[in-house]
Amino acid sequence: MQAPPRLKGREVFFGLDKGLKAVEFNRKDLLGMEDLSREEITHILDTAEAFKEISEREIKKVPTLRGKTVVHFFYEPSTRTRTSFEIAAKRLSADTISLSASTSSLVKGETLIDTVRNLEAMKPDAIVIRHSSSGAPHLLSQQIKSTVINAGDGTHEHPTQALLDMLTMREIKGKLEGLRVTIIGDITHSRVARSNMIALRTMGAEVRVAGPPTMLPPQLEEYGVEIFHRPEGALEGADVIMMLRIQLERMKQHLFPGAREYARYYGLNPKRLELCAPDAIVMHPGPMNRGVEISPEVADGPYSVILDQVTNGVAVRMALLYLLIGGERDT
Ligand code: CP
Repeated sequence: MQAPPRLKGREVFFGLDKGLKAVEFNRKDLLGMEDLSREEITHILDTAEAFKEISEREIKKVPTLRGKTVVHFFYEPSTRTRTSFEIAAKRLSADTISLSASTSSLVKGETLIDTVRNLEAMKPDAIVIRHSSSGAPHLLSQQIKSTVINAGDGTHEHPTQALLDMLTMREIKGKLEGLRVTIIGDITHSRVARSNMIALRTMGAEVRVAGPPTMLPPQLEEYGVEIFHRPEGALEGADVIMMLRIQLERMKQHLFPGAREYARYYGLNPKRLELCAPDAIVMHPGPMNRGVEISPEVADGPYSVILDQVTNGVAVRMALLYLLIGGERDT
């Protein structure tokens, strides 16, 4: 195993200082939070915590993934996920290539599988993919030998977002177990909500979700979450509030009359924030609609940890690249 540099020791790296059992992380891909056990999630978060220090150095680069190649293939727009994956790979000295749908031969009619098989013929170690179709990364993982990392697939999952969210919560609150986390917004169409509901329940958090009935999927209770149609009850005593982006394009589907009504009935503003625990933190995966799901006073206020989430995104993606292609996996 190739140890990342400047760690205090193998025991610290594996979380043994926190009384945790050292776990193997022996996976080819990261496709979703559904697949991961509590021990694996803890191991990823511990690894990310150890990697955070590298981004504080003057020279933010270590040789851990020298000689490895990571392809970032984004079929949908992205600011945070794409940039932080690129930064993460570069800080670990991997070679990176970035491809978007509009500049690839997809525009000439090549299929996704043909495209990825051609990419694989160039021997990358990992392909990071964001796609508008739910299940696209799963399909690719069956077709290719390279590691596949899901950077968001349709309305299904966004596992690295859930991991960076949990790293942020654990860092500030010191634990995940028993934490009261409230997620508000369009749960039906949110891959961020789905990955977080699954992962937070795995880690023993209490999860409440709130949104208009048109934005809550059937069988939501199967996730083990408490369901609210108004935000007030869901916010009472909450330790963490996660506001979701309202996909304004979906307003055309009559899920809600309009942005102003949404802000009035579901938006997080200073008055609603008073219902939460006194030391509550406010999260948002971005991009935000200021004045719709979150007021600017809350987004920029003292409870907001939105930019901490972004910082932690780099550490989580460094950890995942290291664990998946850096040498812990049996080959
Ligand atoms: N949170 C998130 O996925 O943001 P981007 O769409 O900018 O990557």
